[in-house]
Amino acid sequence: MLRRLAETTPIITRRGFAAAAASLVPVAACPVPAVSRAVGALAGLDTIARHKGLFFGTAVDQVLLHDDAALMTHVAAECGMVVGEASFKWAELRPTRSEFDFTEAERLMTFADHNRLRVRGHTLVWHEGNPEWLVEKLTPRNAERLLVRHIHEVVGHFRGRLVHWDVVNEPLQPDDGRADALRDTLWLRALGPRYLDIAFHACAEADPGALRVLNDFGMDYALPWQERRRGAMLALVSDLLARDVPIQAVGLQAHLDAVEPLPEPGVLSRFVDDISSLGLRVFITEMDVRDDGLPADTAIRDAAVAEHARAFLDAVLASRGVRGILTWGLSDRRSWLNEKFPRKDGLPQRPLPLDVDLRRKPLWSAIAAALAAAPAR
Ligand code: XIL
Repeated sequence: MLRRLAETTPIITRRGFAAAAASLVPVAACPVPAVSRAVGALAGLDTIARHKGLFFGTAVDQVLLHDDAALMTHVAAECGMVVGEASFKWAELRPTRSEFDFTEAERLMTFADHNRLRVRGHTLVWHEGNPEWLVEKLTPRNAERLLVRHIHEVVGHFRGRLVHWDVVNEPLQPDDGRADALRDTLWLRALGPRYLDIAFHACAEADPGALRVLNDFGMDYALPWQERRRGAMLALVSDLLARDVPIQAVGLQAHLDAVEPLPEPGVLSRFVDDISSLGLRVFITEMDVRDDGLPADTAIRDAAVAEHARAFLDAVLASRGVRGILTWGLSDRRSWLNEKFPRKDGLPQRPLPLDVDLRRKPLWSAIAAALAAAPAR
């Protein structure tokens, strides 16, 4: 498969990449790392994806955006889209009830502009990533005003500059016991299920051109609780569409786990087809592969992670409903998984396409091969 890929798609070698990267001329006036168009034009994952009508992108951590110019060079070379890992969340944008602080989000915009990357916004409504004042002050009386104001201000600020908004993140939690499978969150408690309607409408008003996405996790495996979540997602989006809520896409986070068995062939592509048949697009929005269930040996881990991702991507990309893939970080230099699911042996996880030296890993090749093998859309 990799040979076939190399025959059809120009992929630069490590040496070629190093030579190109060394010859980069930084954009002088740019306050954030930027690379010349030459690197952007080399065959990174996005270039491979574009041959199939797909895109590839990644989440960018704001500390790395400040400090790690080498990594950001690779982000520009591999990606066609970026998303702020934290910089568009309430906690970052809303230091106080009266203030909006776009500093970090604008840094990402500048980096993206200089490197011709598209940007998605993440996220307008979530039960995490909120400032303390919001959690303390939110009441049924003020919630609608607060939510609409936030969305109008934030989405309006970036109007015309973002391609997607994750309008609502992680609204589902069948285990919370509600018939509609909605998660018990601060927004649900304050406004009931109509918080979703309010958010999608407010986003459409503030920037009709940004694609409105509902994003969630836990729909990747044959596990009964994940089967329930797939059913709950279909029911939720059908319900939203039936009451004319202007949702346009579903994001599948795809935080994968290398030791979890994938569903039977067809289950995931049918799920994507079912979402598409409702007129919605589908994106893989936060892919990474946990390896804390695997032995320490690097080669074993990397091979298992790559094989797992390949099988997952082949399954979802079999449906033309999937329009693009983003990973939750590009290099093992940093992953949220080390905080969330630390390995028992203390070793850092290796969940992302590039290693800590920014070399392409087997996972990179697996993504490249899956993109190259995907049916065109
Ligand atoms: C995570 C970030 O990666 C962390 O750095 C942060 O502390 C918490 O949020 N699903 C999501 C993302 O939708 O926003 C989360 O990002 C990871 C899980």
